[in-house]
Amino acid sequence: MGAPGWPVTVVDGRVGIRPLRLRDAVVWSDMRIRNEAWLSPWEGLRPASPPVGWGERHSPAAFTAMLRVLRRESKDGRCLPFAVTYDGELAGQVTVANVVRGAFQSASVGYWVDGRLAGRGVMPTALAMVVDHCFAHAELHRIEANIRPENEPSRRVVAKLGFRQEGLHPRFLYIDGAWRDHLCFAVTVEDVPEGLLRRWRSRENA
Ligand SMILES: CC(C)(COP(=O)(O)OP(=O)(O)OC[C@H]1O[C@@H](n2cnc3c(N)ncnc32)[C@H](O)[C@@H]1OP(=O)(O)O)[C@@H](O)C(=O)NCCC(=O)NCCS
Repeated sequence: MGAPGWPVTVVDGRVGIRPLRLRDAVVWSDMRIRNEAWLSPWEGLRPASPPVGWGERHSPAAFTAMLRVLRRESKDGRCLPFAVTYDGELAGQVTVANVVRGAFQSASVGYWVDGRLAGRGVMPTALAMVVDHCFAHAELHRIEANIRPENEPSRRVVAKLGFRQEGLHPRFLYIDGAWRDHLCFAVTVEDVPEGLLRRWRSRENA
């Protein structure tokens, strides 16, 4: 039997979420390499990792290796690795990771969008669809997002969606050469009986 809620594709207007595919490799690699300055201040890396450059870490071969790991984890129900699309083209990622079952039924999300598409509400829409799907079909009860205090654009995303600020994790993730503090934001099923996408759309149109 497959993992609950995986795989799935959802589209709302110009924005979609779907599983990453092997044939995303070249587009993903080009986009990640072009966006190095945009993405690198926010992305974690294991400390004392071998000194491999951004280009090599984001080659098509690196994508294929990453996807192999993500597929295994998604099959086991430990993550939901979504591609984000805009007008049907790859535009970024939302990864639901650290899925813990049992009495917790909780997971954390990481996300990014191509800098060329920033500011169009792509990520709030994609994240709302992901959260709604996880609550309705992946048996999750809580989703958290951990964000560096200085990451204003990302804080705007969770603010728009009404995530609750739950606390500060000191020295939480190793990013850009140091252990960085993160604010923790979360949402539970009870917070959004009408669905997150619906609530975000109604606020957007208010
Ligand atoms: C965080 C991120 C995913 C937001 O995605 P998005 O689709 O642009 O989200 P929105 O359209 O809602 O914009 C969010 C905020 O980004 C800022 N923003 C808008 N256009 C921007 C641009 N061209 N460049 C930089 N920031 C911009 C604004 O503050 C905006 O808030 P506002 O709508 O209240 O003005 C995106 O900025 C990103 O990929 N950043 C790099 C990776 C990252 O930080 N990931 C999250 C780690 S926790």
